[in-house]
Amino acid sequence: MISLGIEGTAWNLSVGVVSEKDVILLENDPYIPDRGGIHPREAAQHHSEKMGALLKKVFLKLRETGIEPEDIDIVAFSQGPGMGPCLRVVATAARVLALKLGKPLVGVNHCLAHVEVGRWICKAKNPVTLYVSGGNSQVIARKGKYRVFGETLDIGIGNAIDKLARYMGLKHPGGPRIEKLAKKGKNYYELPYVVKGMDFSFSGLVTAAKKLYDSGIPAEDVAYSFQETAFAMLVEVTERALAYLNLDEVLIAGGVGANSRLREMLEVMCEDRSAKFYSPPKELLGDNGAMIAYTGLLMYSCGFETSVEDSKIKPDFRIDEVEVLWD
Ligand code: ATP
Ligand code: FE2
Repeated sequence: MISLGIEGTAWNLSVGVVSEKDVILLENDPYIPDRGGIHPREAAQHHSEKMGALLKKVFLKLRETGIEPEDIDIVAFSQGPGMGPCLRVVATAARVLALKLGKPLVGVNHCLAHVEVGRWICKAKNPVTLYVSGGNSQVIARKGKYRVFGETLDIGIGNAIDKLARYMGLKHPGGPRIEKLAKKGKNYYELPYVVKGMDFSFSGLVTAAKKLYDSGIPAEDVAYSFQETAFAMLVEVTERALAYLNLDEVLIAGGVGANSRLREMLEVMCEDRSAKFYSPPKELLGDNGAMIAYTGLLMYSCGFETSVEDSKIKPDFRIDEVEVLWD
């Protein structure tokens, strides 16, 4: 079976095509704001302007590999969570495409897709997933359906990093820039470490880091102290989920998973617990169409299909709302 998936919940407009075996094609046309952070309406405008050309490019490239439009079996799309205006553009394109091709539509939960593509590519069985992106920060594991064992009480870690970066005059996305600065940091300054039960919080940490920067501490040390504190919080909760559930695999998902310091800290923790650490390649870590295509295929193979009437966007769609019928 061949599945085409459209992703565009936030910055990345992306179309992926997959079979059960592998990723056939992945094409991105990201929205990069000139200044400041992501503006939902501007991002949606970008997506609607670029959607047609991106799909055309995908179909041209597919043809080169011998796949015709009618060979596509399902059209999957990111139904939520995400920015309303962006989701609307994606859902509209997916409906039109499915109707035009006469193929079934499958609405996919974006967070679930991050987890499933990682399990698939890394061949992980039943991992505790640390899902860290701009808008989301969750520790997820499957017990029947997927459940969120811990999550941020305010902003996602990616947004927290981007906010601090912007304050220090760095361009969006701040993640890679903060990472680079942090590597040059020498002195650790204590910042608020907030873990409550299994949940964590980042907004106080951002405020404190900004104050540190204002007091004249070098940007390198601020970035370093911020990363060490925030990542230690994430690793602590991941480790506790692992122990509580008695599992022995950890999977990283989401754009912040590209950070080498976070990966290193997770690796050390996993080594201590004799657990395996899995990390998908960068292009499948952040938002991408292949994860939507693959998860759509999984769902469809279990009899799931989304009617046009049920294809309304779900900006607050949570992973624990999804019925999980596959292994
Ligand atoms: P979601 O809709 O799931 O919240 P998203 O729109 O935030 O996803 P992702 O691609 O998953 O998209 O993540 C983007 C985030 O990842 C940005 O906040 C960016 O700064 C961060 N990021 C990217 N590279 C790094 C890095 N090397 N270190 C830390 N953060 C990073
Ligand atoms: Fe994402």
